[in-house]
Amino acid sequence: MSGVNEVRKTFLDYFAGEGHAPVASGPLVPRNDPTLMFTSAGMVQFKNLFTGVERRAYRTATTAQKCLRAGGKHNDLDNVGYTARHHTFFEMLGNFSFGDYFKDRAIELAWTLVTKHFDLPKDRLLVTVYIDDDEAHALWKKIAGLPDDRIIRIASSDNFWAAGETGPCGPCSEIFFDQGDRLAGGPPGSPDEDGDRFLEFWNLVFMQYDQVAPGDRRDLPRPSIDTGMGLERISAILQGVPSNYEIDLFRALIGAAVEATGVPAEGAAQASHRVIADHLRASSFLVAEGVLPSNEGRGYVLRRIMRRAMRHAQLIGAEEPLMHRLVPTLVGEMGGAYPELVRAQDLIAETLELEEKRFRVTLARGIGLLEEAAADLGEGDSLAGETAFKLYDTYGFPLDLTQDALRARGVSVDLAGFDAAMERQKAEARAAWSGSGEAATETVWFGLRDRVGATEFLGYAEEEAQGRVVALVKDGAEVERLMAGESGGVIVNQTPFYGESGGQVGDEGAMSAQGVALAVTGTQKKLGDLFVHTVEVREGQVKVGDELTLAVDHARRRTVRANHSATHLLHEALRLTLGDHIAQKGSLVAPDRLRFDFSHPKPISDAELAQVERIANAIVLQNDPVATRVMPVADAMTSGARALFGEKYGDEVRVVSMGRSADPSKAFSIELCGGTHVRATGEVGPITILAESGVAAGVRRIEALTGEAARLHLEEQNARVADLAALLKAPESEIVARVETLVEERRRLERELVEARKKLAMGGGGAGAGDPMREVGGVKLFARTVEGIEMKDLKGLVDEAKKSMGSGVAAIVGVTAEGKAGVVVGVTQDLTQKFNAVDLVRAASAALGGSGGGGRPDMAQAGGPDGAKAADALDAVAARLAAA
Ligand code: ALA
Repeated sequence: MSGVNEVRKTFLDYFAGEGHAPVASGPLVPRNDPTLMFTSAGMVQFKNLFTGVERRAYRTATTAQKCLRAGGKHNDLDNVGYTARHHTFFEMLGNFSFGDYFKDRAIELAWTLVTKHFDLPKDRLLVTVYIDDDEAHALWKKIAGLPDDRIIRIASSDNFWAAGETGPCGPCSEIFFDQGDRLAGGPPGSPDEDGDRFLEFWNLVFMQYDQVAPGDRRDLPRPSIDTGMGLERISAILQGVPSNYEIDLFRALIGAAVEATGVPAEGAAQASHRVIADHLRASSFLVAEGVLPSNEGRGYVLRRIMRRAMRHAQLIGAEEPLMHRLVPTLVGEMGGAYPELVRAQDLIAETLELEEKRFRVTLARGIGLLEEAAADLGEGDSLAGETAFKLYDTYGFPLDLTQDALRARGVSVDLAGFDAAMERQKAEARAAWSGSGEAATETVWFGLRDRVGATEFLGYAEEEAQGRVVALVKDGAEVERLMAGESGGVIVNQTPFYGESGGQVGDEGAMSAQGVALAVTGTQKKLGDLFVHTVEVREGQVKVGDELTLAVDHARRRTVRANHSATHLLHEALRLTLGDHIAQKGSLVAPDRLRFDFSHPKPISDAELAQVERIANAIVLQNDPVATRVMPVADAMTSGARALFGEKYGDEVRVVSMGRSADPSKAFSIELCGGTHVRATGEVGPITILAESGVAAGVRRIEALTGEAARLHLEEQNARVADLAALLKAPESEIVARVETLVEERRRLERELVEARKKLAMGGGGAGAGDPMREVGGVKLFARTVEGIEMKDLKGLVDEAKKSMGSGVAAIVGVTAEGKAGVVVGVTQDLTQKFNAVDLVRAASAALGGSGGGGRPDMAQAGGPDGAKAADALDAVAARLAAA
């Protein structure tokens, strides 16, 4: 019963049997919380249910939740490998009550599972309660029959659990297992509680409050329950092993690495093996959700995790990239519970291999530098921050990797120095703009942005507005005015023109005043919020300080809007069709088309594309209003918005929601997005996907049309079908069958034609004129011209002629439909001493106006431009035979 997969199943089945809805794990990258880097507890996906913002069909639930504690607030990365319990990735088992049962039932359920199903001996269990939680104390006594000295009151934050600075929280009660006096340590609350003997494995949180803001704590609508049990911990207890890394799952993963490297799991390499196994899980699950290694945000956390493992692979002497070779074992162990691993297996393996190959190249050099710099350092010393930064910047060594490499020697890193070096580099990057050429034109924006400030964007609500010119730029320098015929950049205090960003193209349009007309050919954002309009002055002149009417090209904006909304619909439709690993990797929203790139390991079938199209178009037809709201990040979080990986969000974010989903409390698509959108989905019009292709490893692209462009495309398709039907003289409904018949018929005819030509060539009379057989100088010569034949078919004919003659020379000139000639000459083996097919074919080729030819003594071929000389070519061969 105690294998990890069985423990998980026992837990979930038990709570399902007790009326809890089994809910699938939420994603590692939380959907409803753009402030959280990764899901770090089971309750994350249920936050809004506790606070009552959201309701679902169930009031109690149970999950095994994927969690990651690396990067962000919860970060255990540095400890992994060196302790028995730390992980980056782990699974948290939990049962939840959203205003259904409370303390008594939670305690009863937990106690029954632990003592009756997991069969843990009562006398090895003890619990803690929050200092003033008399109720929980009494319940443990009554339900579990625990004596007072095994119900320990704890005053510290250990027994008050909160989701974060804000959010649901409450006192909690933890269950401990006494591993026996072979291990050091005292019970919780005692001076030596940090020892290993008493192991906490289950936390029952009595959710009672909502921390709305610091100092503002309110009661939840109804008291609730949130529990969390580390799957790896309880498995270790049930399997009677002292470390999580010795449970069956980790034994399998480490076993695979041992097999691949030949390095034993125990001894010097123990920590490295553990790091590799742990990080393999974290990396693989992240990639399965569409996170790819990068130098930003979550992608960077992933890269750090990967590289830390890869460094350890190198430390234990793995000659070849190791991580990707462990993926099959991981999928074998965990793919049953997490099908996303199976779906993304190829992508995971490819990503790991690529990263490890790349990293190995720089690792060797980086390690050399590190060794040199740290040669004189010993216990208690610290490495210069500048050196750590250089390793990071030049060699792709994440800081924690450097720290990890020095850790065994007791050497630390000067973090303040590291930060200072990072700051300095940023300042230098800015200064470096003052180079020459293109960069020079960019320096102007820094000063300008400081002086005139951000441009206010009015374009969500308006497509026409008044603006005052605050600066003009020409050829990379500020100017006072732009004259008729001149081009340059115009900056106004406020604008309805959308500046290119988030894949959406910048607006075009016009600016005008009395006697002044400017064409706007593009709008760009500089330094984030300075809008620069590229203009040509058509009439009059424009000066700093002028007031202008700014008008966006409405028709163009309308199609851009439709295309942008369509990308949101397609994004969600792709996710529903292909799985949760779909993550946006880029997009282009132009007036005439849209393009959407996303993580997915393999080509998408026609049936899947049709499904995506169907789902997106169904939402278009709902024609519900699109809601776009600007709100503080904290509020966006409760709306369940989908945030983009790697995007930076300010204090306020825009949340765009559209369409109705199966769940009435949630819109179909909710995204953080700064783009412009339709007012109701019906304005998108038909969406039609044109093409699907691969753009990089693990990244696919779809291109699509909307509205009038889609309609025109369909109209063309229809016309094509009508033309086809007319050509085939068949009703449109039958053209496919007719074409199938035609293709089949054509294949048959081609086969017949080849056979007929062969017969003809071999002396069947007709086109070849006369008997192909002659005798020249006592040698049999088969000589023939065949019309309308391809070179590739000639050799077969010559072979057959050779066979039928037994001894002799065969020469066949083929003349293509275009009048070009090819000639093949074959000499039977007994005559190759006398005649070389290559010589003969060259003679023939010369007669055809060609030169060259090649092959072997028994078979050679050549071409020639002039098919009309076919007879001369054959005569040339005959002449050679005669001359011999
Ligand atoms: N949310 C609680 C925890 O993470 C159960 O410990």
